[in-house]
Amino acid sequence: MSGATGDIGLIGLAVMGQNLILNMNDKGFTVVCYNRTTSKVDHFLENEAKGTKVQGAHSIQELCAKLKRPRKIILLVKAGPAVDDFIKQLEPYLEQGDIVIDGGNSHFPDSIRRTKELESKGLLFVGSGVSGGEEGARYGPSLMPGGSPAAWDSIKEIFQKTAAQVEGDPCCDWVGETGAGHYVKMVHNGIEYGDMQLISEAYDILKRGLGLSEDEIADIFFKWNKGVLDSFLIDITANILKFKDDDGEPVVSKILDQAGQKGTGKWTAINALDAGMPVTLIGEAVFSRCLSALKAERTRASKVIAGPQKETFRGDKQQFIDDLEQALYASKIISYTQGFMLMRETAKELNWNLNYAGIARMWRGGCIIKSVFLGDITSAYTKTPALESLLFDDFFNKAVHKAQPGWRRIIAQAVLWGIPTPAFSTALAFFDGYRSEIVPANLLQAQRDYFGAHTFRVLPGKENAKFKAGEDIHVNWTGRGGNVSASSYVA
Ligand code: 6PG
Repeated sequence: MSGATGDIGLIGLAVMGQNLILNMNDKGFTVVCYNRTTSKVDHFLENEAKGTKVQGAHSIQELCAKLKRPRKIILLVKAGPAVDDFIKQLEPYLEQGDIVIDGGNSHFPDSIRRTKELESKGLLFVGSGVSGGEEGARYGPSLMPGGSPAAWDSIKEIFQKTAAQVEGDPCCDWVGETGAGHYVKMVHNGIEYGDMQLISEAYDILKRGLGLSEDEIADIFFKWNKGVLDSFLIDITANILKFKDDDGEPVVSKILDQAGQKGTGKWTAINALDAGMPVTLIGEAVFSRCLSALKAERTRASKVIAGPQKETFRGDKQQFIDDLEQALYASKIISYTQGFMLMRETAKELNWNLNYAGIARMWRGGCIIKSVFLGDITSAYTKTPALESLLFDDFFNKAVHKAQPGWRRIIAQAVLWGIPTPAFSTALAFFDGYRSEIVPANLLQAQRDYFGAHTFRVLPGKENAKFKAGEDIHVNWTGRGGNVSASSYVA
């Protein structure tokens, strides 16, 4: 289109959209913006975008006319039908090879579908995770694009320059085919739920267990933020704990203890169940939010169900705090181990070629879970791209061994206090299960075969004339019943 000067278009002038436009403008790109309520376009151009190169459009047609080819248009609108709606409105004004980019928190099956639909019309689709909230969008988010591989060359420069940079590397790379970008963002959010739950449990232990004040807990978090836990979420937690209302009381202690959620953590947990992957920590983090939501019922229960007698802590406080840091660290290692196991399984199932070092690198900066820890995960997967589990990596293997005694002491003490630690505990339970060559599923299999003739397989080394390797075996446990088995063995 002659005369078109726009490098990229953006639809949706809510907070994220506005900030992302200003960020792309700062990086030297000409952005053309459009919003359904067009007065917002004028308001934005006259205020926040005043004096920039940002251009406005008052119709989809005008937006498309102002963009250089191949057109690149980012949608930052509410996930769901609104995305399909805008794609439909755009289609008549797009040409072969133009690229529609969905930057919302869309569910990955929708992105798989949209990639196929647009590609069948000669267009390209990118579903991109965008993380980092308002601040990230303005100064450098973590961007996780996936979809039509042919789109990457055209958007690479804009995306990588707009993203956060860590040690000269952009927190953005091509994630993979179809819904891979939104899938990885979904797992990011699940991990975000897990990290937040772990931090909240540590806060609870310090507050209700040790009886520390918000100020004292904030100082502990500030200190932790200089060590292995150095991360955005630990940093903001310390700031939150220090933040006072006008009467001097910490604001956090005035907030209703009922967590909200928009569903991305739940999607991760559902996906883990579908994939048959034990992503227990994210699951517990979602359920903890659900339990917190039952405020009225919990309040009634608190009046009639007593826990253990509260005992004052008589041990070494500093040792306990150090143990808690290690418990948090070890649980975090388990959570990321599980998250990467899930991504590996889904990649296998959907035939995606995910680059795990690249994903960890994208998460090192810009996003909500950004941390020093993700640098270590990047190194682990750079060293061994096909790493089966983070726990097999030398660095993390040593770290988890070092953390183990303190981790166990913390959970044991919390149990005695009656303070719930669902995320810490499930992490340890996973760890103990994962490192066990033998788990009690033998008994479970026997029970299934006893009541339903569901059959079992023989343990290697225990084969005999009746119990043959590789065969579905049924035992007549009661002397009654026949020899017909209900179904064959399914691992
Ligand atoms: C991000 C966040 C963001 C998410 C919020 C709230 O990466 O910037 O993950 O995408 O919407 O964290 O999520 P919940 O409302 O589900 O807690």
